[in-house]
Amino acid sequence: MAVSQVYLRYAMGIKMNKKWWHNTIGYQIYPKSFQDSNGDGIGDIKGIIQHLDYFKELGINVIWICPVYKSPMVDHGYDISDYEQIDPSFGSNEDLDELILEADKRGIKILMDLVVNHTSDQHEWFQKAMEDLHSKYADYYIIKEGSKGEPPNNWRSIFGGSAWERIGNTNKYYLHIFTKEQPDLNWENKELRELLYDMVNRWLEKGLGGFRIDAISHIKKDFNYKNLPADGKDGLASGWDHFSNVEGIEIFLKELKEKTFNVYECFTIGEVNDVKPEELKRYLGEDGYFSSIFDFCHTNHRVRDKKWVNNPIEMVNELRSLLFSKQEYANGYGLLCNIIENHDLPRAIDRFIPEKYINYYSKTMLGAINFFLKGIPFIYQGQEIGMRDYPKKKIEEFKDPTTYNNYYEHVSRGDLEENVMGKINIETREHSRTPMQWTDNKNAGFSEGIPWFEVNPNFKEINVRKQYNDSKSLLAFYKKMIAVRKRKDLEETFINGETVPKYMESSGVIAYERVRDNQRILVINNCNNASITLELQEDIKDVLLNNYDQIMLDQSDIKIMPFQVVVMEMQ
Ligand code: NOJ
Repeated sequence: MAVSQVYLRYAMGIKMNKKWWHNTIGYQIYPKSFQDSNGDGIGDIKGIIQHLDYFKELGINVIWICPVYKSPMVDHGYDISDYEQIDPSFGSNEDLDELILEADKRGIKILMDLVVNHTSDQHEWFQKAMEDLHSKYADYYIIKEGSKGEPPNNWRSIFGGSAWERIGNTNKYYLHIFTKEQPDLNWENKELRELLYDMVNRWLEKGLGGFRIDAISHIKKDFNYKNLPADGKDGLASGWDHFSNVEGIEIFLKELKEKTFNVYECFTIGEVNDVKPEELKRYLGEDGYFSSIFDFCHTNHRVRDKKWVNNPIEMVNELRSLLFSKQEYANGYGLLCNIIENHDLPRAIDRFIPEKYINYYSKTMLGAINFFLKGIPFIYQGQEIGMRDYPKKKIEEFKDPTTYNNYYEHVSRGDLEENVMGKINIETREHSRTPMQWTDNKNAGFSEGIPWFEVNPNFKEINVRKQYNDSKSLLAFYKKMIAVRKRKDLEETFINGETVPKYMESSGVIAYERVRDNQRILVINNCNNASITLELQEDIKDVLLNNYDQIMLDQSDIKIMPFQVVVMEMQ
């Protein structure tokens, strides 16, 4: 168990106690695609262990691993059939113990994924519930009567189609806000909640650093099951407001925290979408439900969407406002986890940089775009080497239910096949799930067998080995960024310093100062493919990071080159 020492910080009158995870650099692993150690084509825990030294050298100190529990893999692990067992395709429970131990030796903590909004339909509880709808297990799930052969209401599942599945020939339906193989748990049932807490504590006992907590804003449902006005041709309606952050969720979230996370002082990151900025304080920090939550403010922005294609700079300006607004509201309460990629999103380079501008400068600048903001930067596997989307020709080449659902949705709207594939290739989250590109050897060094998902053919060009000893590589730049964030003399400012937006009048520039006592760190990201000149208000004390070889100064003016990022300590 990590021990926290206490030090004081006053921002907006609020004291923040120092925690072991405050100056952390996180890394997310999608285990299926990270490293296969036994040639079955599927990444595994032993494969992760093989790369622990890589993380140590990068300067990573927390690793979040997507679910590795026993699962039929309908949603690639987010459908858990046994919370106590590691899925054999990933290894064994002993492998996980070894991973925790070996990571610990290198100063790295492991976060597991906690998926407690739903189980798999193969989970013993659900199987027993289906065998006997009067058993106690039936109340572990959300089962309701339909009416006149129709489901209890017309909510649409987040993954498409009705959110209700009929149970055999009965008039009863169970709720699943994701796939039908992921029945939602009934958090109103106290016995079930206690079982979940015990399970969480058993994992924490093993010495985990904590959890990333999946879909947690959905555990409370609005039990008014009336039909909503249809918002699509399917006659269904998005039930989002009726199963996201619904009033009363705070009771469950507080209880979860008190009975589990608090006992271990672990690091918890909630996957919480759609929290209004003014509500952030309920969700993160010392008094929040979680240590932190991910900032998803950019996830719907795609430079290839019609809306932005001709005005990418407008997109940057919008993003800038969103980022700064989140910073402002979180300030004084806690640290957000800052990401540009995860396993549910296409690759960041393809989302944010117009194709014709993709180069070393734009890629490094993108990496830095939110890295120095207040919060904890998380890197998604392959982001550090600039892994790219892998568009497919045919829908059959994809593997994920959401891709298929989106495809059929477009088709049912009457879109032409070639247009549909175009849209899918922009939207699909599977781009981030191609195997990690380690080398230019067979299968990019990911597996000796046949990879479960095709390796991106660009692996000969983009791989870790190629960038490892190249001081002008993206990987080398990530190492530098991490080293700057961890510099002892800057650490306090990166953790606690306020974020003060700068040069807001300059379009396409994301600039801010991190300020604490007498220290000021100025970060300027120029997202324009043109140079800009800005007036500095103080002298430069030290250039901490620069993706160009030089800084162009003319008295108090600084010329920032196309896609340049500079981080400077100011006098
Ligand atoms: C969010 C996860 O990130 C995603 O991959 C998963 O499909 C859903 N939750 C359902 O668990």
